[in-house]
Amino acid sequence: MCGIFAYLNYLTPKSRLEVLDLLVTGLKRLEYRGYDSTGVAIDSPDSKNIVMVKRTGKVKVLEDAIKEHFSGGEYSEPVMTHIGIAHTRWATHGVPCERNSHPHRSDEGNGFVVVHNGIITNYNDVKTFLAKRGYEFESDTDTEVFAKLVHHLWKTHPTYSFRELVEQAILQVEGAFAIAVKSKHFPGECVASRRSSPLLVAIKTKSRLATDHIPILYGKEIRPHGQTRELPVLPRSDSTSEFMPEEKEVEYFFASDASAVIEHTNRVIYLEDDDVAAVRDGTLSIHRLKKSLDDPHAREITTLKMEIQQIMKGNYDYFMQKEIFEQPDSVVNTMRGRVRFDGNAIVLGGIKDYIPEIKRCRRLMLIGCGTSYHSAVATRQLLEELTELPVIVELASDFLDRNTPIFRDDVCFFISQSGETADTLMALRYCKQRGALIVGITNTVGSSICRESHCGVHINAGPEIGVASTKAYTSQFISLVMFALVMSEDRLSLQQRRLEILQALSNLADQIRKVLKLDSKVQELAKDLYQHKSLLIMGRGYNFATCLEGALKVKELTYMHSEGIMAGELKHGPLALVDDSMPVLMIVLRDPVYVKCMNALQQVTSRKGCPVIICEEGDEETKAFSSRHLEIPRTVDCLQGILTVIPMQLLSYHIAVLRGCDVDCPRNLAKSVTVE
Ligand code: UD1
Ligand code: GLU
Ligand code: MG
Repeated sequence: MCGIFAYLNYLTPKSRLEVLDLLVTGLKRLEYRGYDSTGVAIDSPDSKNIVMVKRTGKVKVLEDAIKEHFSGGEYSEPVMTHIGIAHTRWATHGVPCERNSHPHRSDEGNGFVVVHNGIITNYNDVKTFLAKRGYEFESDTDTEVFAKLVHHLWKTHPTYSFRELVEQAILQVEGAFAIAVKSKHFPGECVASRRSSPLLVAIKTKSRLATDHIPILYGKEIRPHGQTRELPVLPRSDSTSEFMPEEKEVEYFFASDASAVIEHTNRVIYLEDDDVAAVRDGTLSIHRLKKSLDDPHAREITTLKMEIQQIMKGNYDYFMQKEIFEQPDSVVNTMRGRVRFDGNAIVLGGIKDYIPEIKRCRRLMLIGCGTSYHSAVATRQLLEELTELPVIVELASDFLDRNTPIFRDDVCFFISQSGETADTLMALRYCKQRGALIVGITNTVGSSICRESHCGVHINAGPEIGVASTKAYTSQFISLVMFALVMSEDRLSLQQRRLEILQALSNLADQIRKVLKLDSKVQELAKDLYQHKSLLIMGRGYNFATCLEGALKVKELTYMHSEGIMAGELKHGPLALVDDSMPVLMIVLRDPVYVKCMNALQQVTSRKGCPVIICEEGDEETKAFSSRHLEIPRTVDCLQGILTVIPMQLLSYHIAVLRGCDVDCPRNLAKSVTVE
């Protein structure tokens, strides 16, 4: 989820201090991705060992530690060929601390050291396998199993090449990863691979490269992933051709994105899932064990023409926009390793031991601020339906103002992206003191809410940089939906409903992709709306939360007035605001409150309002009420809120851009509100 940077100089003399400098600069370029700890590994001066330095906190802290650690003159001797690897970590497995920071090692002798981004979902199985063979683990990370697995394979297959060892290891792991491995046993070599997490290789030579592609080498046999029990080993693959630079001297970089390498070279190869890239004797080869029909035979060497600033944000202008478009992936990461669509099973490892206690509770309370509060509003109805418990949703600040009564048999959920939100944390302490069970829903492993809660769920959305929350909202939403599904696991009468929701969850990423295609249409809408003073957003039922969240996004990003209105309340007041000039957006989907929403729509149109309608794909009857509409794919009622909030995120984003606002840092706001 965060950053990898590795550097290999072949026949290009560099001192270790220079290498460290390069590594630290590389990490600094990746800092914008968000992280909580850092680390590097290089060779010891006699090249017989590998030395690592790791720190929690900023790259600057690591830089200072490196200065302190490597002051001796021996580190300034130039080395012809050397490999250094570096990492910024966004913890998913185990709190941010030095022990859990990367690189992770295979054994006390530092035989193999690994940096990894992503989540290895079957790490427990691999760990058990390795523990039986005497491996002892030093960290709480999933990553460590990879280092030890490579070591185990090396022990059992002494004739294998470094690349083959890593190839065999990646066949055993499931989940998402980008990895780079360095080894004492294979000096001068570096192997890297990826699946679902980004990774590129960059090449620096003195003269122009003679080729613009690297042929891919294939293994002979195909085998499914994830067979950890017996560790069957594949026939070794035969490699015949690879990339050899024209001149001997060459430098290679492995990095999560091009921002880290652009100052060194503009020739990069973006690796594809399951590519294994290996450098040996200055030669790079890209290898795959599995050949599929649509695979190209080579990886292109791309020439970058971009500025760092541009690369960091990819094709996006702002982090918020990037994060909106990341949602097809972030929702999958939230479910990764937890939802099994084939067996219709859900396991929330962080709370499974507490489920019996939760089932016996008097009521569920969901507490948060801002967007996190809206995720509670969004899932309340489903929680009521699937848990059959009273569900109370509270704003943390108001909850504290009221000295709300709390009892020992209450279960209180505290929702916060950063896990540091002061109001939420105070409410947590208040409830904990009164003996309630405290459950955290956070995006930040090791945060205060995570530590002070009895149990919880990490939403695993990855770091969120834009101040206005987007992907954290949809991931909080899904985490609470998963909780509702877990609570109803053994309720016979609810099985049909659960299946319907699981089915919809499995389609969600594709449907989000579809909604994101509305972007240019939403931008047109924004052009209609951005000069107005106000925007009313109306809906009810499962979509009321989208109205609140949409209005909050509009307010915080565009400084324009906006209000989320419960459509059922229209005639109790808000209808007075409606006339032919007041901008109105209405969410009208084919769910149990459709008829009521249509009533509201009629009330608005009969006041000459001309609402923008968010409706279901192909719903001609509803569309007939207005010339402006956004159609979203059909999903199960309780997940609609995920699909309807995305056009609202896009709309507020585009209005903000049109109004010239600072999208990533709205005025007066901070990403994590650690004051009351
Ligand atoms: C855990 C691992 C996960 C791994 C999975 C496989 C961590 C952080 N997570 O995930 O990477 O894939 O096992 O077995 O190591 N917690 C709180 N408060 C919170 C959030 C979480 O106390 O606000 C606690 C949980 O109760 C749990 C731990 O933190 O003890 C990890 O939570 P979570 O990451 O959600 O658990 P798993 O999904 O099981
Ligand atoms: N899952 C790994 C860890 O928690 C890698 C996290 C990352 O992507 O930085 O250490
Ligand atoms: Mg805890």
